[in-house]
Amino acid sequence: MNKIEIENLNFEKLFDEKVIDRTVNRLAKKISKDYEHKELLIISVLKGSFMFTSDLVKKLTIPCEVEFVKITSYTGTQSTENVFVQTLPDRERLLNRNIIIVEDIVDTGNTLNYFLPILKQYNPTSIQICTLLHKPEVFRYDWHIAYKGWDIEKEFVVGYGMDYNEIGRGLPCIYRQKEK
Ligand code: PRP
Repeated sequence: MNKIEIENLNFEKLFDEKVIDRTVNRLAKKISKDYEHKELLIISVLKGSFMFTSDLVKKLTIPCEVEFVKITSYTGTQSTENVFVQTLPDRERLLNRNIIIVEDIVDTGNTLNYFLPILKQYNPTSIQICTLLHKPEVFRYDWHIAYKGWDIEKEFVVGYGMDYNEIGRGLPCIYRQKEK
């Protein structure tokens, strides 16, 4: 399927399964190398990153633990500044850990900018960010993204975990909204 429609919005394919697989492989390889002798804790930001996280940890060649936090900032096709953290791992799970936060997309950065100081209060050894997609054009902050799949335009995307009004998360490819 190269084109899809969700609730009257039209989308076209941006990244297919093969390309996504190659990119997740590249990121997993780099992380496996960088964390070879460290105890790695992946923190996956739900819901959007569930599919990426699952594929990424399968491809890691080092042991890792996985935790999930649920953080929400989007309404419809817009990222908002109203960020909510709905679940947090227990404090002792984070203490002295090497953490990689896994996101499907870093857009404005509001979500992680809200979450990073909360996480730092738990005194982990290190925190890095891994995101499949990034929109540099709208990114508002200066923190570093250590592991990144692709930079994309200022466009709304669905699929591979990402949704429009909760629809489209199960699509194996990533689609972008077509110009009206
Ligand atoms: C999306 C995405 C990121 C965030 C990125 O989550 O998964 O967490 O928005 O946008 P930002 O950088 O502008 O903050 P969303 O709020 O849609 O929740 P969801 O993952 O549950 O769909």
